[in-house]
Amino acid sequence: MIRSFLDSNAKKTDIFLIKYLNRQSNSSLMPAMKYGSLSGGKKIRSSIIIGAGKIFNIKASKLLNICAAVECIHSYSLIHDDLPCMDNDKMRRGKLSTHMKFGESTAILAGNSLLTLAFEMIVDKNYKIENKSKTELIKALALCSGHTGIAGGQYLDLNFEKKKKKFSDILNMQRKKTGRLFNFCCFAAGVIAKKNIKELNSLSKLGEDIGLLFQLADDVIDFKGTKKLAGKSTKKDQKKGKSTLISLIGYEKAHSFALQLKKNILSKLKKHGKKANDLINTVEFILERNF
Ligand code: IPE
Ligand code: IPE
Ligand code: MG
Ligand code: MG
Ligand code: MG
Repeated sequence: MIRSFLDSNAKKTDIFLIKYLNRQSNSSLMPAMKYGSLSGGKKIRSSIIIGAGKIFNIKASKLLNICAAVECIHSYSLIHDDLPCMDNDKMRRGKLSTHMKFGESTAILAGNSLLTLAFEMIVDKNYKIENKSKTELIKALALCSGHTGIAGGQYLDLNFEKKKKKFSDILNMQRKKTGRLFNFCCFAAGVIAKKNIKELNSLSKLGEDIGLLFQLADDVIDFKGTKKLAGKSTKKDQKKGKSTLISLIGYEKAHSFALQLKKNILSKLKKHGKKANDLINTVEFILERNF
C-alpha cells in the first residue's frame, strides 16, 4: 500500500516536471538537466510534502510546484555530489552519473540550472497561491539549500573525511546536508495550509528529523546494501573515511539510535490521527528500504 502511495506521488511529480521542462525554451543544458532530474529516483521528498499536506486536507495538485522544485534541488545536489571533486561516483540511479554521461562542466552547469529552476517553479504565474506564501517558501528554500543547508552540509561532509568527529558534529552535518530539505518539505505543506508560526516551527523540526532518519538509512544502505538494489556503488563511505554514526559507534548502536529517532517522529505524527497515516507509512518505509 505504501509503495502505491510513493509511486503515484513520484509519477505526479514526474509528469509535472516533464511538462515544465518541455515548456522551457530549449538550451544545450536541457538534456543533462533532464537526465539528472527525471531518470529514476524515488522522489521520496514529494511523498513527504504530499503526505504532510494530507494532514491538513491539502490536495496533491496544490503542492506539485513545491514537489518539483524540491526534486530539482535534490537532483542538483546529487549531480554535484557525484563529481570527482566530491564523492567521485560513476553510477547513480542504476545509470552513469550525470558527469560521466555529459562531462564535468556540463554536469556542474546543469546542476546550477536545476537549482535556479526550483525558485522559478515557486514564483510561476500559473501557481495560484498567495504571493505572501510564495515569498515565505522562497526564503525557506534558500535557507535550506545554501550555506546553512545542503551546500554547507556537503562542505562539512567532505571536510570531515578521514577525521574523528564527535557525535554532535556528525548529526549537525547530516541535518544540514540532508535534513534541511526535508525540513522544508514539511514546512512548505504548513505554509500552504496557512498554519501559524508555532505550528510551522514544529513542522520544520519534524521534517528535519525525518531527513536525519533518511540519511542514517542511506548510510546503512552504503554499509550493508548492494549496488544492484541501491542503483549506486555501496561500501564506499568506509573507503573514503566518511564520518558517519556507523563509523563512530558501529552499526548496532547506530541502528538503535535510528530506531529511537523513528519512534519519536511517529509519536508526534500519531497525534494527528488517521490523516497522518500516509506520512507515517512513508517514515516506516524510510528505515526499511534497501534502495
Ligand atoms: C540520496 O537520496 C542522497 C541522500 C540525500 C541520502 P535519495 O535516496 O532520495 O535519491 P534518489 O532521488 O531516490 O535517487
Ligand atoms: C548526499 O549524501 C547528500 C546530498 C545532499 C547530496 P551521500 O553522498 O551519502 O549520498 P549518496 O550515498 O551518494 O546517494
Ligand atoms: Mg556525499
Ligand atoms: Mg555521495
Ligand atoms: Mg550515501
